[in-house]
Amino acid sequence: MKPSTQEDKVIDEGRQGEAIQSTAPARSNGKKLYVESYGCQMNFSDSEVVASIMASQGYETTRNADDADVVLINTCSIRENAETRVRKRLGDFKKRKESNPELVVGILGCMAERLKKSLLEEEKLVDLVAGPDAYRDLPNLVDEVGTGQRAVNVLLSRDETYADISPVRLDQGGVSAFVTIMRGCDNMCSFCVVPFTRGRERSRDPHTIVNECKELFNAGYREVTLLGQNVDSYRWNLSSKGEIKDASQATTNFAQLMEMVALVSPDLRVRFSTSHPKDMTDDVLEVMAKYENICEYIHLPVQSGHTDVLQRMNRGYSREWYFSRIEAIRKYVANCAISTDIISGFCGETEEEHEATLSLMDKVRYEYAYMFKYSERPKTLAERRFDDDVPEDVKGRRLIEIIDKQNSHSLEANKNDIGKVYKILVEGPSRRSAEQYCGRNGRNSMVIFDRNGVEKGQYVLVKITDCTSATLLGEYIETCPSA
Ligand code: 5AD
Ligand code: SF4
Repeated sequence: MKPSTQEDKVIDEGRQGEAIQSTAPARSNGKKLYVESYGCQMNFSDSEVVASIMASQGYETTRNADDADVVLINTCSIRENAETRVRKRLGDFKKRKESNPELVVGILGCMAERLKKSLLEEEKLVDLVAGPDAYRDLPNLVDEVGTGQRAVNVLLSRDETYADISPVRLDQGGVSAFVTIMRGCDNMCSFCVVPFTRGRERSRDPHTIVNECKELFNAGYREVTLLGQNVDSYRWNLSSKGEIKDASQATTNFAQLMEMVALVSPDLRVRFSTSHPKDMTDDVLEVMAKYENICEYIHLPVQSGHTDVLQRMNRGYSREWYFSRIEAIRKYVANCAISTDIISGFCGETEEEHEATLSLMDKVRYEYAYMFKYSERPKTLAERRFDDDVPEDVKGRRLIEIIDKQNSHSLEANKNDIGKVYKILVEGPSRRSAEQYCGRNGRNSMVIFDRNGVEKGQYVLVKITDCTSATLLGEYIETCPSA
């Protein structure tokens, strides 16, 4: 899910405050649910699981918060800004409760565990708090609120993957869907709050993943993005579950899983996010090279270009190791687009270390980047071990230097595409005009072209004729037949 303008990339805090679409359950209980999501793709995918669990109890989802009996805000804790936005939003809903005391307001996701006490007891902003592993309990929690209690479940689980739940698809327009393949994270990058808010890493049964992808394809979807905090550590181990004796056949790793998904149909495009430089294997790259329907795009967050900073960040790789992974990508997957995440002003970052990030960018020449100022998060290793000692103005200036460089690299990459022909999966009308349609190529670039009668969900060939730093413009050539 690329932000659509260069400006969005610069200040990207994930997606913000989007409401899920209206859906009707098979059997209605007459109550309406409004879910608003913040943050990463995983949160948006989780909101679909939540809608599905609530639909099984008869809740209809609505896009209009004014119609709702239950409002759930799916929250993000990754940076302080994200939390500030959610708090402001909760203030709005508190006002609504004054005129509608029956309204149930709850928070879900990453802020749940961290802020349950202050939001529920001290500020009394919400009636219900459910952490990322407690969504099956939501209908009960809502009922508890109905009996006058404040309901909380923030228990993190070692095995919850919601494997058996078919998410209600909410805002993908029937073309592209997210499929969660694992939950939690064990990496403990020192700046990151995710291992605390989302708990231990666990992988989902590969057969349930493949079945979900097949169902999506049969329902008309043409692209899946396999989601995990670190997809390269995906591992399903049957023998540990006592289901198989022969250990050699017992495990499925990410490369194998991706191959299983690629085989669902040559017309189903496969994407994945996020890769980790310390764990990404050549096997994954080989599978990418083998299947045309696996997109030639990798999001490989570097965070910093200096080995000493990477060490303080506890990332588990050096600058040189990162370069060797980039070389491997270039070797196996010709024309692969690479994007990254970069943090400016991490604890103790010197000018020389910052320059190393800029020089790494020059060497790799990313197609896209998500760029952030370091924001200290409670409980993290960095908060406990290091001083957040880079002054705000220095963090800001370094971030601008990183952004300026990325803008010029993105523009250069897009200019380099002029004259090339790409296969685009049509997503629908562009934002500017109903006569212009848009879609992405395998490299994840957004391409805009005159409609020429095409429909969303079709694959078309488009010749690139012009660009900005964020978008490619092209001429429709022809619609591809299905495989
Ligand atoms: N401050 C700034 N950026 C952060 N990220 C994660 N934690 C922090 C933090 N404390 C960024 C990383 C990560 C992306 C999802 O968010 O770059 O890859
Ligand atoms: Fe956070 Fe690191 Fe896990 Fe990503 S890999 S979620 S940055 S701890």
